[in-house]
This record gives sequence, structure tokens and C-alpha cells, in this order.
Amino acid sequence: MTTETNETKPILELDHVSYSYTKGGKKVLRDITHSFRTGEVHSITGPSGAGKTTMLSLISGLANPTEGKVLYNGKDLAKQDRYDYRSHDIGVIFQSFNLLPQLTVAENIMLSMDASGKKFDQPKKELAVKLLEQVHLPAEYANERILHLSGGEQQRVAIARALSYGPSVIVADEPTGNLDLGTQEDIMSIFRTLAHEQNVCVIIVTHSPEVAAASDEVFELAPLRRR
Ligand SMILES: Nc1ncnc2c1ncn2[C@@H]1O[C@H](COP(=O)(O)OP(=O)(O)O)[C@@H](O)[C@H]1O
Ligand SMILES: [Mg+2]
Repeated sequence: MTTETNETKPILELDHVSYSYTKGGKKVLRDITHSFRTGEVHSITGPSGAGKTTMLSLISGLANPTEGKVLYNGKDLAKQDRYDYRSHDIGVIFQSFNLLPQLTVAENIMLSMDASGKKFDQPKKELAVKLLEQVHLPAEYANERILHLSGGEQQRVAIARALSYGPSVIVADEPTGNLDLGTQEDIMSIFRTLAHEQNVCVIIVTHSPEVAAASDEVFELAPLRRR
């Protein structure tokens, strides 16, 4: 008899997943089966147009597969409350950050805490400052407006916001795309700490060989014409 512990069971599974944007249209993703685990940093690589962002949108519950299933803790995401999944279980870091530029750093983070409907055992502002420390930003940044921050600093705030309600899975679309090498390495160290010390499942879409090399596992999406 084999015993399977929670440690070895994947938190997310793509089970023969295909996806087309239009009914009967060309398949952007074709028969993908892959597992993602907590405590690991996973990279998704592949050329532009290969379907990386589409794969993240299925993982983050923004769309349902045309064929196959996405399973979260063994359950079909298509049959669950996807709003609940998106506001509690998964933190998404978009390519364009999607922060509110006129609001402060802390306000952006606290909005996401409020949207989760979760109860917090400390004042949200204090938690926001702790999150800043986790993404290597000084506490003073809490009251700074987003529009005053650099691209790398906004990326850190976007990560802090995604972490604010304690999700089990973090997904990020090209999080180091426009950053210098030093910042890229630091952002990767934040993701590795999250996975290895806080048991989060981190999934990163990237073009960067350095980012892929710093991950625990790499899934390569082949170019569309080769499928
Ligand atoms: N909203 C959409 N409607 C129709 N086609 C789309 C849409 N978004 C992406 N596509 C197409 O799907 C394919 C994969 O896109 P995408 O997932 O963005 O790839 P990647 O992130 O790897 O560059 C591309 O051919 C793209 O043109
Ligand atoms: Mg993309």
C-alpha cells in the first residue's frame, strides 16, 4: 500500500487542458497535463504567443478550459465559486501591476485585504507594513503614492498586495520583465523564500533563463506551430 502525504500531493493540476478563445477556433493550449506543488517555485517558459498568459488565466480562475480540468486541491475549479478562489486562495501579479496610481501603497494593499472578506488579527495598516518588509521596501513607503514609485518598487508592492490575504498559490506574469539584473535576483529571492519558508506554491511566467534557472521546476510551452 502506498501512502500519499499532503507534501507530495499537488495543490494545482492541469488535467488534459485545451483552450480556444473562440468556439471552434484554433487551440491556444493543447492537451496540457501538469502539476504544481506548494513549497516550490515553478516557471512557465516558451516563446511569445505560446500561451503562457492564457495558461495563467486558467490557473487563476479567470477562464475555464475548453477541454479538460483545472483541479485545486483535487477539486474541479469550474465547479467552484471562482470569485472565492480568486480572492482567498490565489494571489495574482499582473504584467501591468494593476495598482491604483492615485492611492498610497498601504491603501492598495488594504483594498485587497478588504476584498478577501477575511478577518485579520492585527490592524490592516500594520500588516501592510510587515508585508513591505517581506518585499524589501522600507516602512515609510506605506504612505507613498504609487505614481511616485519606480517600476521595480511597484512590482514589489504588487507582490505585497498579492500576499496580503495569505493565499496558498502566487502566480506572476513576467514579474522581472523590465527590471535590472540586481532587482530581478532580489525579486526571485523573495519568491524562493515564500515557497521554501512559507510553503507557498509560486508559479512564474518568464522569458528569462536566469529566472528559470532559479526555479525548482520548469514547464516549457512549445511554440504553437510545433503543436
Ligand atoms: N483575448 C484573446 N482573444 C483571442 N486570442 C487571444 C486572446 N489573448 C491571447 N490570444 C492569442 O492566444 C495566443 C497565446 O497568447 P498568450 O497566452 O498571450 O501567449 P504568451 O503569454 O505566451 O505570449 C496568441 O496567439 C494570442 O494572439
Ligand atoms: Mg504573455
